[in-house]
Amino acid sequence: MVLWGGRFSEAPQDSVFELSRSVHFDWRLAPYDIRSSKAHLAVLERNKLINSEDASKISRALNELAEEVATSKFAPIDSDEDVHSALERGLTEKIGAAGGALRAGRSRNDQVTTDLRLFSIDHMLQVADLVVKLQDAILAKATEYADDPAPGFTHIQHAQPLSFGHELAKHAHAFARDLDRIEDWLVRTSVSSLGAGALAGSSLPLDPQFTAKNLGFERSFENSIDAVSDRDYVCEALFIFSMIGNHLSRIGEEWTLWASTEFSWAKVSDAYSTGSSIMPQKKNPDVAELARGKAGRFIGNLVAVLTVLKALPFAYNRDLQEDKEPLFDSFDTLFLTLPAVTGMISTTNFDRQKMAEAAPKGFSLATEIADYLVRKNIPFAIAHESAGKCVALCEKTSRELHQLTASELHSIHPQLDEGVMVVLSVDGALKSRTTSGGTAPSLVKSQIQAAQARNDLTRKEISRKVAKFSEMMNQ
Ligand code: ARG
Repeated sequence: MVLWGGRFSEAPQDSVFELSRSVHFDWRLAPYDIRSSKAHLAVLERNKLINSEDASKISRALNELAEEVATSKFAPIDSDEDVHSALERGLTEKIGAAGGALRAGRSRNDQVTTDLRLFSIDHMLQVADLVVKLQDAILAKATEYADDPAPGFTHIQHAQPLSFGHELAKHAHAFARDLDRIEDWLVRTSVSSLGAGALAGSSLPLDPQFTAKNLGFERSFENSIDAVSDRDYVCEALFIFSMIGNHLSRIGEEWTLWASTEFSWAKVSDAYSTGSSIMPQKKNPDVAELARGKAGRFIGNLVAVLTVLKALPFAYNRDLQEDKEPLFDSFDTLFLTLPAVTGMISTTNFDRQKMAEAAPKGFSLATEIADYLVRKNIPFAIAHESAGKCVALCEKTSRELHQLTASELHSIHPQLDEGVMVVLSVDGALKSRTTSGGTAPSLVKSQIQAAQARNDLTRKEISRKVAKFSEMMNQ
């Protein structure tokens, strides 16, 4: 069914209908479309634009339809153009002409973006819940390894030793920013567009504020033209997903590297690995690789919608129908990727001994020598030079810094006395890094605790919002 046709003498060509048809992907908006129809019905009835007999008929039919959509008893057919027309067909099949009454004062232009906002809020809360679970897995793993030293890298070259728990916990801070962005997005997206009509508002006595409240939105639109054309919330969601995707891809890269034979730090569990069809010995970290690869889709989907919107005239243009598939795809991809990465992290074990042995290698304690001299008031440039000489001596004699003798150190700089031997150990180096946020294991543990406390608060906040949203949907 299509919702227009009165002024046309010919039906659309098949190719035109196929091109413009969206029901095969926008059908997932159906529960939100039904719910926003109930809100619209309430305002029509309240303002006597529909008699109470028709209103209760429509209300009953909408409830039935919701049930039938949920159980797939009612589904779109080939001749339905989009979710709105399929549902109006469902209503008219049940109650005849009264099924078309809801179109008063409402256009698909304000309807579709209201539905999409409700869909996005509902699904964004599910994303947030999955990110909170991922955070739990990261922080638990970080706690396990807080006391274990490992090499830290810059340029993928040994830089300075780290607590491996610190190395793992860093990811939780990146995802905490994503959760902040989601919280912020929820505030900005909580705007109802119903009442904007096609573009100019309505001459009927509607009440956009009442409808907004009924649908759990924080406020109603302020400019009807903007209301029907604003898809900023879609782009912002896709940007958040691109950031989450990037953060997942960086975990994927690390895990892939750490599971390599050369590193052999990570033992990824069999349940989160896959084999090769030709090489029987292979155990590949495919979850990590897919997490890395999916980042391309998230960014692609963001760029797709931004490009549709560039220079697009305001109000409604059919180009806007192109907003949904990229958004749906990014949601679906996150729902697949986040639980798999969470499971992979929880079930990976690391080789403590191997990491500890590697920690002082690559002259990673050179900064300790320079800092030691600075504490003795030697200007840093001279301290840096002396530490460099220590490295050169080690390179010449094939040793690591902690293997230099007291007299060798002393001959490089007279202030390099026995005290330097204390910091020239991985343990000493780690314990000395006590600036807030640093890698000293005692600090790492409190950083993890603080991050966990914050994650627990976010979890509570999200479940409160989920409960509120589902209460609204069930009204
Ligand atoms: N299927 C359309 C979309 O997703 C609904 C709005 C159609 N509006 C219109 N004026 N043709 O954008």
